[in-house]
Amino acid sequence: MQPSLVVIGSSNTDMVIQAMRIPVPGETILGGNFFMNPGGKGANQAVAAARLGGKVTFICKTGNDLFGAKAIELFRSEGIDTRFIVEDKDHPSGVALITVNQDGENSIVVASGANGWLKPDDIKQAEAIIRSARYILVQLEIPLDTVAYIADLATHYNVKLILNPAPACAVSNELLRRVSIITPNESEAELLTGVTIHSTPSAEEAARSLQAKGIETVIITRGEAGALLLHKNIITHVPAVKVKAVDTTSAGDVFNGALMVALSEGKAMEEAVSFACTASAIAVTRLGAQSSAPYRNELSN
Ligand code: RIB
Repeated sequence: MQPSLVVIGSSNTDMVIQAMRIPVPGETILGGNFFMNPGGKGANQAVAAARLGGKVTFICKTGNDLFGAKAIELFRSEGIDTRFIVEDKDHPSGVALITVNQDGENSIVVASGANGWLKPDDIKQAEAIIRSARYILVQLEIPLDTVAYIADLATHYNVKLILNPAPACAVSNELLRRVSIITPNESEAELLTGVTIHSTPSAEEAARSLQAKGIETVIITRGEAGALLLHKNIITHVPAVKVKAVDTTSAGDVFNGALMVALSEGKAMEEAVSFACTASAIAVTRLGAQSSAPYRNELSN
């Protein structure tokens, strides 16, 4: 039977404008195309995992509004189990305002709305599915006490927890100890460790520092430099696939969704990271968050 994967996190509607560059404070610039598409780190990761063949349950909180209803409809169309999505009558669905520049880089501001009210009680109702999951994947666009509760459940039921510590935010060592695999980008790794990453040796130092906090496997995503994997005390540098980036918005999200699927299929850690690098390279060649996540037949393995 296919192992079940649980993703817990945010769901947003992304309002995106493509522009030559990202404006500085106080500046108004004229951009180009505007488009609206489904996003949110949690939702992006769930959709990426489902498209790559994972059996995914997604847990999030949406508002009682059109954005929330549309998001849930899309999750269902991807074959995602939405039974444990909670509707918040008091807060609107999350929204993100995104500017993408001509190099595919972005700046994002999130109005969390209902995402900020996803509470431990909302997770509790999904305990049975969490208990039987092969992996749980969570990020930091929901309250930290909820993430801590998820980490406790994962430890209690001996389910492997993947933490994508995005957006960057301080996390207690107590929580980090409960994480099996952590997947920061360079700036998130810097914030968690205090190590400034300016080179491969400093990235290695940051990875070792995270490992010293009790995390079994550390994967630092490094954009064009690929990914640094520290697993079983061995450091491996997995190269990135060279592409022309159009929009890097959900590169990290696709990486995480793909990583979870590959691991659940029994791929070895290095092979899983390489699979995730390939999936995220495909995503950055296309516009949007969920709209850019690749399908399994686009990857060769
Ligand atoms: O990681 C990209 C995502 O961050 C966007 O989809 C946006 O909604 C924010 O959550």
